[in-house]
Amino acid sequence: MPTARPVVVSGMRPTGRLHLGHLHGALSNWVRLQEGHDCFFFSADWHALTTSYHQTDAIRPAEREMFVDFIAAGIDPARATLFVQSQVKEHAELALLLGMITPLGWLERSPSYKEIRENLTDRDLALYGFLGYPVLMTADIVLYKATRVPVGADQVAHLELSREIVRKFNGHYGAVFPEPQPLLTEAAKVVGTDGRKMSKSYGNSIELGEPAESTRKKIMAAVTDPARKRRQDPGNPEVCGIFYLHRIYSDPATVAWVDGNCRTAGIGCVDCKRKLLERLEPDQERMRERREALLARPGDLDELIQLGNGRARAVAAATMDQVRAAMKL
Ligand code: TRP
Ligand code: SF4
Repeated sequence: MPTARPVVVSGMRPTGRLHLGHLHGALSNWVRLQEGHDCFFFSADWHALTTSYHQTDAIRPAEREMFVDFIAAGIDPARATLFVQSQVKEHAELALLLGMITPLGWLERSPSYKEIRENLTDRDLALYGFLGYPVLMTADIVLYKATRVPVGADQVAHLELSREIVRKFNGHYGAVFPEPQPLLTEAAKVVGTDGRKMSKSYGNSIELGEPAESTRKKIMAAVTDPARKRRQDPGNPEVCGIFYLHRIYSDPATVAWVDGNCRTAGIGCVDCKRKLLERLEPDQERMRERREALLARPGDLDELIQLGNGRARAVAAATMDQVRAAMKL
């Protein structure tokens, strides 16, 4: 594969169908990156085990839905490599080797390690796999020699750790890996229908390709500026989730129209929402059609993923040859 293009790797835990928060927070950025980069996007199914080791039956079906949504959102499996982490065993081998040189203190200091352990109190997370999560994540990235990793702000500390591990590895054994940098494109803000961050667990999300009927219902019932109790009350678009969606879906003239007329009570929230739906609905429809076409041919999807797994394996195997040679194994 003659390639001078920068390599991008990113993964997502398979949690099922994706929503507009995933689309505008991560996926549309992945879609853009396909143009000038060699992209590897994977299902982080082993990562899912680090916090949900007791719910393994949900992983496979959730993964299918996720891949369908990736493609519906515009990821082109002919250009980007879509694969499943656990189907490329080199991730485990490299994680094991990197674990030999990763100091415990680095892992214990990771902010998300502390935060998640404090927040997920319904389960025991005093586990080796959970602590070692950033080591596996580092393996995911450097196996493909990625230099750019599109992640959310919450993952930046992990990447810092990845770079430290890479420096230590290269220092011991020779320069095998480039240092991965986070690609922090400012993600468009998407709030859920209740005004909080859009999240499946809050029950406030709109799924990718959700049918027109239910998309419409959710939008029409969505919370707006809470200070706009009556039609004649002026509103503040900056605190309204509908306005954030306008910024994503509507043209600049419409955004300006909303901004101005919300503040003067020139329009009501119902007018504003209808205007949004004019743009949102066709986009949802397009994704719904793509989803249905993919779901109607499950064999094709399997084949695509097999192909992606094979492409990923070839790259991973070549890197592991270099790693073993460098380590004299
Ligand atoms: N840590 C990411 C998350 O939980 C998923 C992930 C695993 C990942 N390996 C990765 C992201 C490698 C980017 C690169 O969301
Ligand atoms: Fe939100 Fe639009 Fe209502 Fe303003 S008019 S509060 S932007 S829905």
